[in-house]
Formats: sequence, structure tokens, C-alpha cells
Amino acid sequence: TWTNVPQGPPDAILGVTEAFKKNTNVKKMNLGVGAYRDDAGKPYVLSSVKKAEHKLINSNMDKEYAGIMGLPDFTAAAGRLAYGDNSPAITENKLAITQSISGTGALRIGAAFLSKFYPHSKNILVPNPTWGNHIPIMEHSGLTLEKYSYFDKQTNGLNIDGMLEDFHKAPKNTILLLHACAHNPTGVDPTPAQWDEISKVVKERDHFVFFDMAYQGFASGDCNRDAYALRKFVDEGHSVVLAQSFAKNMGLYGERVGSFSVVCADQEERARVESQLKIIIRPMYSNPPIHGARLVSTVLNTPELKEEWLGEVKVMADRIITMRNKLRGHLENDFGSKKNWNHITNQIGMFCYSGMTPEQVDKIKEDWHIYLTRDGRISMAGISSDNVKYLAEAIHDVTKD
Ligand code: LMR
Repeated sequence: TWTNVPQGPPDAILGVTEAFKKNTNVKKMNLGVGAYRDDAGKPYVLSSVKKAEHKLINSNMDKEYAGIMGLPDFTAAAGRLAYGDNSPAITENKLAITQSISGTGALRIGAAFLSKFYPHSKNILVPNPTWGNHIPIMEHSGLTLEKYSYFDKQTNGLNIDGMLEDFHKAPKNTILLLHACAHNPTGVDPTPAQWDEISKVVKERDHFVFFDMAYQGFASGDCNRDAYALRKFVDEGHSVVLAQSFAKNMGLYGERVGSFSVVCADQEERARVESQLKIIIRPMYSNPPIHGARLVSTVLNTPELKEEWLGEVKVMADRIITMRNKLRGHLENDFGSKKNWNHITNQIGMFCYSGMTPEQVDKIKEDWHIYLTRDGRISMAGISSDNVKYLAEAIHDVTKD
């Protein structure tokens, strides 16, 4: 029956993990998927999350369905974490927010909502480059994708002039996808002053912003600081939508917990928007899983656990910064690489956009059993004190002329 089905290519990110699992070499390293590991290279379940889980088990909860939009205690806490307790979106009760199947699900609901109801355009501009999955998510939902300038290959930093110019040139009311913090894959974010400039152009051109915030806390170690762009845009009166994920900052990858929200003009608009979000979600997956959302809700709504969690986010972010310093140090001092590696320590968040070519990525896999995506992105969170020198030696070997 299925002779017409062609073999598809492996996923650009998750396919790397599949290949890694097949390798039996003891030195192998998986630097593909963005998943945090502790300094022993092991998956890390946060202590605050473990405590929340014990609390939940002891409270003998039932397994009834959540509503279509998920658990209200979870979504309320997620909204406050992103927008801030004092945001008018929160205090005036005008945030339409639904639970989602992590960040991907949030993006998918959001894209479907915009495709169906955004009155001005079906085009969305995404950064060049962007997270690979953004592209099919937007296309599946009926949006047409174009790219705006973002990364400057010369400096391995932000091409702010190109970005502002592309926003100027775009037809008024264009939808823009912005990574709120810890840009994936480049690890390059605008500074607060650059965000202020971006906000100004977006306002002048009446563009509409879809924020993707999958790494709140991972950029600076501080959840408030990482929400700067989102909060700034809301303060300046932009109406925005937001995809949020708790995969990385609570280490809840497989629990698939996130949210999608729309800042509305007032409560009446909020009610109308929420009614349509339900209509979009119901035929997709009916209603979301409950366990991960209960964990997040327990952590965020229990002051001691929230405090502990904020500390753990900082520990994770700091460990990554330590690995950046060590990797650069080994490259420059131990192996004498003559290349410029400043970007390893300048870039932030979970990833380093190393500048390695696809051929170098293939070689480091063949010769050194090190796996990363072919765009040269390194998941810094997969590096530990034990293997950072081995990685530096391997990078030097495949990048030296
Ligand atoms: C990544 O970019 O590695 C993560 O967001 C995981 C994923 O689903 O691709």
C-alpha cells in the first residue's frame, strides 16, 4: 500500500540524538539537542521539581481531564513569570493564556491562531537563522515565511543594522517572530538598548510580534532580566503573543509543558480570544497532559520552592558559562588555535554557534565521535569538566588549516 511513501530525511536536531545513540565509543559526546546535563554529563532533575513531585504524590490527586486550556493555577503562574506580577496584562486580567504541549505546541497554536484571525497578513518574518522547527510549524499553520537579517558571520554577533532595515522595509503590520532571549541557534541576543531601538521601529511600522521564549532564565541566570524584551514591548503598548516553554528552565523536557498567550485590549476581547483558542486546540489534542503542569504550578506557587528553583536556574546558567570559558581557554592556550574564539564566551544561553562548516561537523563526528547539528551549533549544556578539553582538541583538529 505504501510504495508511494518516500524515505524522509532525519530531523536536523533530534536525528543527531538518534545517530549518537547508535555509536558505542566511550568518548562520544552529544552536543546536538539543547538539553541540560550536570557536570557528570547526566540528565538533571531539579531539586525543586523533585520536591514538588513528592508533594503531588502525597496529595493523592486524581487523573481527571484538565479543561481544554489546561490547569488555571499553572497558566496564571506562567503568565506572571513571563510578563511580571505588575504587568497590566496581569493586573487588568487581559491575558488570554492556554497551556500547551511545550514550546512547539505553543508555537503551533499561536501560528494557527494568527493564520486564522490576524487581519492584516499571512506572512511571518523569522530571523536568519532560526530554530529549524519554526519553519515547518509556521508553514503547517498556513503562514508564509520570510527571513530577516540577524546573524553577522563576520563578527559572529548581531547584525542590528540589517535587522532594523529589514523591519523598516517590511510592509506595515507584518508579523515578526522574535526570540525573547537566548537566541537559538546563535546564542546572540540584542542588548537592552538594541531592544529599545527594535521596539521603536516595530511601533513605527505597526508590526505585530510573536515572541518565542523557550529559555527564560538561561540567558542571564535571572528570569526577570531575560524577560526584558517581552515586558518592554508590552509596556510600550505593543499587542504581542508569546510561546513559553518549561522544558529547559525546569528541566521538564519529556513532560511537554508550556503555554501560549495573547495580550488583549480588555477582558471582553480576552474572552473572545480564549473561546477561539479552545476551538483550535480541541481537534488537535483535546486537552493537555496534567503532570508537568502540576509540577510547574507547585514550584511557582510555593514560595520556598520558587526561591529554590530560581537558584537552580542560575546554577545551570553559570555552569554553562564556566564551560564556555574552559572551552575557549583550552582552544587558545592548550592547543594554540590561531582562530578567533571570542564568540564562545560572548554568546549566551544554551548554544554556541561555533562557525564550524558542515564538512567540519561531519569530520568531528567521524574522527572524534562528537555529534552536533550541521549548522555548527554546539549545545554547551552537554559539555562537562571531564570532556571539555577533549572537545577543544577535536575542534582544533577539524578547524586548523
Ligand atoms: C533544540 O533546539 O535543540 C531544542 O529546542 C530541542 C528541540 O526540540 O529541537
